[in-house]
Amino acid sequence: MTHPLENEALEVARDARRRAYAPYSKFRVGAAVILKSGRIVAGCNVENASYGGTVCAERTALWTAVATHGERDVDAIIVVAESDEPVAPCALCLQVMAEFCGPSTPVVLADMTAVQERTTFGALLPRPFGPGSFTPP
Ligand code: THU
Repeated sequence: MTHPLENEALEVARDARRRAYAPYSKFRVGAAVILKSGRIVAGCNVENASYGGTVCAERTALWTAVATHGERDVDAIIVVAESDEPVAPCALCLQVMAEFCGPSTPVVLADMTAVQERTTFGALLPRPFGPGSFTPP
C-alpha cells in the first residue's frame, strides 16, 4: 500500500534535489521524510571540499525533522536521484535511519519522473544496531 502522502513527498524530494550542492560528484540527490504528523521534510546532499564532510540527502532531511520541527516519528522516506538503477540509502544513512525507523517503514526510491522501487527499512538493513540494542548506563 502506498502512503497517502507519497505523491506530495515525491514532489518535495524532487524540489529539494534541485537545491542539492554537489559540485564534486555532480550527483544530485533529494529526499523527503514523511512524519507521523503528516509533515513532509525535505533534504538534499550537501557536499564539502574535504569530501568527508559531505552529508547525504536522507540525513539532512532526518536532521531537519529533529532540529527544525522536533519530530522523530518517521512514517516513510523518499529518495530521488537520476540513475538507471534505484539509488538506495548509503550505510551511514541507514544507520541514522535505524534511530527513527522500524523494519516496516517504507522507503521509496524514485527518479525525477517515476517511482523505481518501493522497499522497507527492514529490507535494506535487516539487523540494525539501534536504540534497542543496548542499555545506556
Ligand atoms: N548521496 C546521497 O545524498 N544519498 C544517497 O542515498 C547516496 C549518495 C550523495 C552523497 C554524495 O554527495 C553523492 O551522492 C555521491 O555519492
